[in-house]
Amino acid sequence: MTAKPIIRQVLPADLSQDRLPRHVAVIMDGNGRWAKNRGLPRIMGHRRGVDTLKRVLRYCSDWGVRALTAYAFSTENWGRPLEEVDFLMTLFERVLRQELAEMMEEDVRISFVGNLAALPQSLRAEIDRAVTQTTGNQGIQFTVATNYGGRQEIIQACRAIAIKVQQGHIQPEDIDETLFTHHLYTAEIGDPDLLIRTSGEMRISNFLLWQLAYAEIYVTKTLWPDFDQTEFHQALYDYQQRDRRFGKVR
Ligand code: FPP
Repeated sequence: MTAKPIIRQVLPADLSQDRLPRHVAVIMDGNGRWAKNRGLPRIMGHRRGVDTLKRVLRYCSDWGVRALTAYAFSTENWGRPLEEVDFLMTLFERVLRQELAEMMEEDVRISFVGNLAALPQSLRAEIDRAVTQTTGNQGIQFTVATNYGGRQEIIQACRAIAIKVQQGHIQPEDIDETLFTHHLYTAEIGDPDLLIRTSGEMRISNFLLWQLAYAEIYVTKTLWPDFDQTEFHQALYDYQQRDRRFGKVR
């Protein structure tokens, strides 16, 4: 049997390869509303949301974006109805199991950020398996924020640094932006250049609070399950029109 050929999409002609964001982050909002609008249970929106995420990962990989980080579950999402939380945990586990072979084929390197210790044991096992197997892949870096909260991440970094100071490994004056960054979950991933949020909400909802300091923000009213190639193309096009000054003057 011959393997299914991978058909790669070419970068749309109006986008410049040189000015692509290196790292895109997404807040995948609107799954619940998408389902409600169709008279479906909320979980159907999350199911469709997975399809959208797979497609966005594919565009990023094909077009040359080097890293994609997706906000899958926040530290605040535990406050949702128990059935929805259970559904999401099971969904993450199943998707990881089902997609691992394809991620290997497509050279995707997956990692997770967040307080993973609090996740169900069976999900942690799938996470470990996927991270370990894809660790040598050279393609896109795909990060899933799961049980992630920006404030919680900053606090855990402070604690880790405080312990090092207490034990005499570093001095308070050694603490600078570089050292702090190395204690964040994202130490090896770097900061996003572009944050995309769907469903029109103008918030960052405790996502990558430190890392988004200079990201360009793109908000669309489109609900996440409807976020398609045209929408992603538009987000990148919009990004390429921005003048990124990082607080300086040209
Ligand atoms: C927000 O929409 C979406 C979520 C909290 C879940 C997103 C998760 C996925 C798309 C699955 C990703 C899977 C893997 C394995 C990475 P919402 O429910 O807040 O929508 P609403 O604001 O319309 O209610």
